[in-house]
Amino acid sequence: MSFTSATLKKLMAFAGLFWFSYIIFHMLSLLNFHFGQSAFDGFYDWLNQLLAYYLMVLILIVLLGFHVIVALSRQLVNNISKGQAYQKSYPQGVPRFVAWTGAGTLFVFIIFHFIQMKFSGEPSLYQCMVELFSQPVMLVIYTLGVITLSAHLHHALPSVLQTLGISSKPYHLVVILLVLILLVGFISIPMSVVL
Ligand code: HEM
Repeated sequence: MSFTSATLKKLMAFAGLFWFSYIIFHMLSLLNFHFGQSAFDGFYDWLNQLLAYYLMVLILIVLLGFHVIVALSRQLVNNISKGQAYQKSYPQGVPRFVAWTGAGTLFVFIIFHFIQMKFSGEPSLYQCMVELFSQPVMLVIYTLGVITLSAHLHHALPSVLQTLGISSKPYHLVVILLVLILLVGFISIPMSVVL
């Protein structure tokens, strides 16, 4: 069975949408931090008992791998077929160097963050957050991670809509609003430790 480029692009869009749903869920879950240690730890202790949660994390890992491989291969095919002078950037409309530096930074951040969270060894995730964001270097890394995520979503969401046959123009403001809500929500966690 061979996949056409359009099918791969659609599958990539669905993988991105699954991740996007997780990111909204992740940001909303993290807001528990503002309600204190017992609310935050209680929520994550409950979540970490669910088999469905482990399944979701497994799906996220597989989809991230798939998303990255398809994006890389699309850029490579594009480079080979167009010749140097006519190479289009992928995603379109964003300079190739900027897009790939941003996406690469986001990818490295996700891997780093995943390992750091899953192997922290700290029984209280709340304490883990407080210790983490008391280190200036971690503040910089997490701020950079959240900014690259926002930039990535800002150009990826309209492109997902287009792939699914929906004109993205009427949703321009909704996309900006969603990205801003995510940015502020995530950043509010380190900021509440620092301030
Ligand atoms: C300031 C921003 C962030 C904070 C404070 C934060 C915090 C956390 C915490 C506490 C966990 C552990 C959850 C658990 O053990 O169940 C976690 C896991 C995770 N985070 Fe974040 N996170 C942030 C941003 C992000 C971003 C931007 C992404 C992705 C783009 C992300 C992706 C993940 C993933 C994939 C996991 C592992 C799966 C999970 O346990 O939910 N995080 N994060």
